[in-house]
Amino acid sequence: MHRYDRSWRACRWLRRSGAPDDAWHGARGRLTVASLRTAIADIARCHVRICGPVAMAAATQALLGELEIPPSRIACEAFGGTSPTTDEPLDTNDYPLRFLPSGTTCVARGTQTVLDAALRSGVTFDQGCLAGVCGRCRIRLVEGEVATGCEAGLSAADKKAGYVLACQTKPRGTVVLADE
Ligand code: FES
Repeated sequence: MHRYDRSWRACRWLRRSGAPDDAWHGARGRLTVASLRTAIADIARCHVRICGPVAMAAATQALLGELEIPPSRIACEAFGGTSPTTDEPLDTNDYPLRFLPSGTTCVARGTQTVLDAALRSGVTFDQGCLAGVCGRCRIRLVEGEVATGCEAGLSAADKKAGYVLACQTKPRGTVVLADE
C-alpha cells in the first residue's frame, strides 16, 4: 500500500464485524454515499479501484452508481462468497419500505439494501458482518418483491418462514417487513 500511497488517494475503512480498538481514530462504520463524498471531495471525477469480497464489492459499486461514476471508471476485483445479484440492470427506482410492528416507513432506492435505507432513516437494526453471514439483520418479509444476495446467515427454516437478511436485500417494489 505504501507504493500506492504516492499516486493514489486511498480511503481506509474498517469493515469487519469486530469493533476497532482504541488506537483507531479514523472513520467508523459502513461506506455510504455521504462518507465517500466527505472522504474524497472530488470522487465524481476519480477512477476507482475496488478490491474485496463479492458482497462488499457489489455494495460499493452500487454506491458509486449513486454517485454517478460511470462503470468505465470503476475497476473491480472481487473474490469469495456468493454474488449478491444477478446480471440485472442497476435499479435506481425509489421504493417505499414499511417496518412492523412499529409502522415506521422510509424510502429505499433499488440499489440500496433494506439495512442501509433503514439506518439512514433512523430505524434501529441489529447488524454484524454486513455480508449475509452472521444472520443478525434477519427480518421477515411480509409483503413485496425483493432481490436478495448471500443468504448464508439464514437456515432452511428461516427461508421457509420468509426471513431475509436486511444487509443483502434490495427492494423491487413496495415492501413490508416485520421485526419478530
Ligand atoms: S449483518 Fe450479518 S447477515 Fe446481515
